[in-house]
Amino acid sequence: MLTGKNILLGITGGIAAYKIALLVRLLKKAGANVKVVMTPAAKEFITPLTLSVLSENPVYSKFSENQTGKWNNHVELGMWADLFVIAPATANTLAKMVNGICDNFLLATYLSSKCPVFIAPAMDLDMYKHPSTKKNLDTLQTFGHTIIDAQEGELASGLFGKGRMEESELIFEKINDHFQTSKRLSGKKVLITAGPTYEQIDPVRFIGNHSSGKMGIALAEQALKLGADVTLVLGPSDIEVNDSINVINILSAQEMYEAVHKYVAESNIIIMAAAVADYTPKEVSQSKIKKKTDSLEIELVPTKDILKSVGAIKKDHQILVGFALETDDEQANAKKKLESKNLDFIVLNSLKDEKAGFGFETNKISIIDKNNNIKDYELKTKTKVAQDIFDKIISLSNI
Ligand code: CTP
Repeated sequence: MLTGKNILLGITGGIAAYKIALLVRLLKKAGANVKVVMTPAAKEFITPLTLSVLSENPVYSKFSENQTGKWNNHVELGMWADLFVIAPATANTLAKMVNGICDNFLLATYLSSKCPVFIAPAMDLDMYKHPSTKKNLDTLQTFGHTIIDAQEGELASGLFGKGRMEESELIFEKINDHFQTSKRLSGKKVLITAGPTYEQIDPVRFIGNHSSGKMGIALAEQALKLGADVTLVLGPSDIEVNDSINVINILSAQEMYEAVHKYVAESNIIIMAAAVADYTPKEVSQSKIKKKTDSLEIELVPTKDILKSVGAIKKDHQILVGFALETDDEQANAKKKLESKNLDFIVLNSLKDEKAGFGFETNKISIIDKNNNIKDYELKTKTKVAQDIFDKIISLSNI
């Protein structure tokens, strides 16, 4: 199940440390590669030798090994891990993680790691209830870490209450689930449009808009994380896109239309986040238009509505998602688009929301689905918004 996954276990100084031997066994049995890093205090509760034998790897707790003079590279270890599980996590370590304190090898490795982090706290009930512990756990969650909540039960102090580390079997299940859901879209093809379109007026001028492409690119990256095969039809944008995404660069609405239709039939999920021009010049002047008269008229004709054209041919097994950027009567207008374009759901963002929309790192959306379920979300980074949109897609029964 976990074959080839690199799991780094961080053990801190709590009595629950003895339970980690079982977790190492379970992970090894499931095929994971396991490395262990311990704080000095953790060695009072379980020996490095036990963990080294079970993990079949050296156990790290210092920057240098005295006998060999060799140094342990915390950066390398952090990069090696696909998942870092800190269990048990003491109140002391939680507080240091929140504040970026780095006075032991485990904390240096934590600060160097880029992978998801799971934290299983364990401490006595009053320490667990303390506002500072609560605040620290909340903060760690805002860093994007997953907290494996402590359980109620008999504690080492003899008291009864919440503070016991979650059982190793259940921590193992959570680790397993993480790797399963993280590839939830493997084998699926996802087609996304993003960015503005440029409608040529003459060789040097165009009609464009302020779309940066950020939202659509965040969606493409989230789809990739979920294991999908991703094609991104992208209008002019300065943002770098992950090499594993099949990017089709286009300029005009017509080019976007043609690129999209090459991929529609094979796609399972289609999301149109591009800000497509609704009108384009009827004729493109072959030479630069000179300033001659007091006024200039350029005749515009409608572009093709790409989303609507896909809605018209969409099959039942395909999921189609559109965006609506509205300034007035937001919900009513979005609902009209949802119906007329035959969408599974529409993502509404209003220009009235501060820090949402064009150019910003953040967005504030509502999702309206075809069964008229409406959900309003908080202002979030576009990466988090992309996660919400894919959670909604995954919740639909036909995926
Ligand atoms: N869209 C599209 N092709 C177009 C215009 C829009 O695919 N020619 C898609 C956008 O990518 C978005 C959705 O349609 O997912 C809604 O875009 P929006 O501009 O808000 O709506 P329009 O249908 O163009 O309506 P209006 O501009 O009148 O609000």
